Order: sequence, then C-alpha cells, then structure tokens
Amino acid sequence: MRVLSGIQPTGRFHWGNYFGAIRQYIDLQSHEQAFFFIADLHALTTIRDRAQLAQLRIDAALDLLALGLDPARATLYFQSDIPEVTELTWMLMTVCPLGLLEKCHAYKDKKAKGLPADAGLFTYPVLMAADILLYDSQIVPVGLDQVQHIEVTRDLAIKFNHLFGEVLVLPEARVLDDSAKVPGTDGEKMSKSYGNTIDVFEAEKPLRKKIMAIKTDSTPVEQPKDPERCAVFTLYKLFATPEQQQALAERYRAGGMGYGEAKQALFEAANACFAPARARRAELAAQPERVQQILAEGAARARAKAREVLDRAANACGLTRWSGASR
Ligand code: ADP
Ligand code: TRP
Repeated sequence: MRVLSGIQPTGRFHWGNYFGAIRQYIDLQSHEQAFFFIADLHALTTIRDRAQLAQLRIDAALDLLALGLDPARATLYFQSDIPEVTELTWMLMTVCPLGLLEKCHAYKDKKAKGLPADAGLFTYPVLMAADILLYDSQIVPVGLDQVQHIEVTRDLAIKFNHLFGEVLVLPEARVLDDSAKVPGTDGEKMSKSYGNTIDVFEAEKPLRKKIMAIKTDSTPVEQPKDPERCAVFTLYKLFATPEQQQALAERYRAGGMGYGEAKQALFEAANACFAPARARRAELAAQPERVQQILAEGAARARAKAREVLDRAANACGLTRWSGASR
C-alpha cells in the first residue's frame, strides 16, 4: 500500500500540527510504504520572500526528521525536486473543468474576501492531484479541510482514465484523527492564524513563558476546579500517561491547587516530551550535508516512480517522447 502526504512549509510546526497530523503521518511509516514531501511549490502561492521560503522548507525537513521521520523507511523529498509533477499538472489541467476549481475553498474564500487570487491559487488543487497521482498513491492521510482536494484528485483521475485508458490509480483519503482539537494559549483551537500557538521546537525559556501565559479562569487557589474545562489540563493530557492525568485531575477537583502548579506540570511534561527531538534537531542542523543527502536520496526514489507514471500518462495521450532515458 503506498501512503503519501504533503505538508506546506508556511510556518514553524505547532503542537496542533504535531498531534493532529505529523505524529500520525510518522506512525504510518512503520507499516506502510510512505512518501512524504514538503509542498514548497504550493507554499509559493503565499510566500514570496526568497530567504523565508528557503529557510522554512529546510526547517520543515529538519523538524520532520527530528520528530522521527526515518529516511530508511519513508521517502522524504521536496516537491519542487520532482519536475515531473508540473508536467502531470499540465496534463490534468487540460481535462479539468473550471467549475471544479471554482468550488474549491482556498480560492473561494479568498475571492469572497475580495482578495486578489492568482492562477497559482486557483489551480492549486490540480498540482495537489498531480502530487498524488504521480506516485500511484493509494492512501492519502489528510486533515478534514483537504478532503475536498482528494475528491478533485479522484475526479481528475476518472476523467483522464475515461479519455485515455486506465492509467491513473484512484487514491482514497484517510482523514486524520483531529477529534481531539489541540487548544491554543487562549483556549480556542490552536492555529497560526489565531496567534495562539506553541511551537514544537520552542526553546525551554519561551516555552515556559508561553505556558505560564495560557488563559485560565479566576477560580481562587483553595476552590475545586474542573480539569475538563481547562486548556492547561487538555494540553497536559497530550503528554501525560493515564495515571499522571488522573493524579492531576484529582488535584484540580480537590481544591488547594493554583493554575500555576498545573502549568508547571504541563511545562515539565512538554519539555521532557520534546527534549530528545530538540537534541536530534540540533544535531541534524549541524550536518547540513547529511540532510541534503537524505532529501536528494528521497527525491531520487520519488523521481524514479514519477518517471514511470508520467511515461504511462504521456504515452496514453499520444505524447511519447523520443528523447530522454525513461521514455
Ligand atoms: P494552522 O491552522 O495553524 O494554519 P494548518 O491548517 O496548516 O494549521 O494544519 C496542518 C495540519 O495540522 C492539518 O492536518 C490540521 O488538521 C492539523 N492541525 C492544525 N491545528 C490543529 C489543532 N489545533 N488541533 C488538531 N490538529 C490541528
Ligand atoms: N494542500 C495540503 C495542505 O495544505 C498540502 C498538500 C499538497 C498535500 N499536496 C498534497 C497533502 C498532496 C496531501 C497530498 O495541507
């Protein structure tokens, strides 16, 4: 079974991204053939600063590797390292009705806000379809917001196959479990756009500061508190064993404990959880050639498969090429 997913390098990863998506992707590498890529071509629709994009995509690679993505098991690459993806995008674009893209939310939302949208944003779902179809991907783990794009991918594959024969494999979405929404420092859903995030690779000092600033109610220290209605406790649950959770819940309910103490427990648990990844990240960051090699090897593996599928697609529509090694 080939599982594939991509992640845009549009900011540093926060706890919501980790527990809601990244950790689940990484878990898949142990029992599936996993392809993971950093969607830097997609990021180009929003980041127009050379240094920033260059930094964010390498940060994303370092973060994923430090968090346990194992290049011996999974294939990790930059989307832009596979030029075949834009070629397949073009082929798919020629069979894509405009109406299909007009319905897609990224474009629709921007248009509704009166913001200027470019062709990159409008055709974003076609590039995403090519990302998936180029590797005969069968399963695509994504958050709920991306399910619409997997439907577009299937529609385009069906249309292409109908016109040119059974060439493209139809993928299925596997919706990630984000039922436990990770709250941010203000108690709302943690999200870059709300400015309430805590980053996975936050250094110890700012980590403590952010945790200490999590919004809590004004119940006095001596009174009992409800752990289930407190963002500090919800976050603590992400890091603690069931026994630790129960122990802290009892302290909430008994009264006599201030939120500062709960925050301290959260800080210790989160800090201990991410400390090994922080150390691995520092190690990797000090060996840029090694990271480059991992990405180059990942791209080579991905590209071999991409060429095979693109050959099939090109042949099917009468574009057999007479030059080039693979066709
Ligand atoms: P943001 O809202 O910060 O822009 P993204 O939309 O880039 O985050 O999310 C990337 C992935 O992380 C998605 O699959 C999404 O489901 C997951 N995710 C983001 N925030 C949370 C959260 N607060 N709780 C659970 N999952 C989340
Ligand atoms: N659009 C996805 C997101 O914003 C990222 C992405 C790009 C992707 N291409 C993909 C995800 C292919 C899965 C498969 O989250």
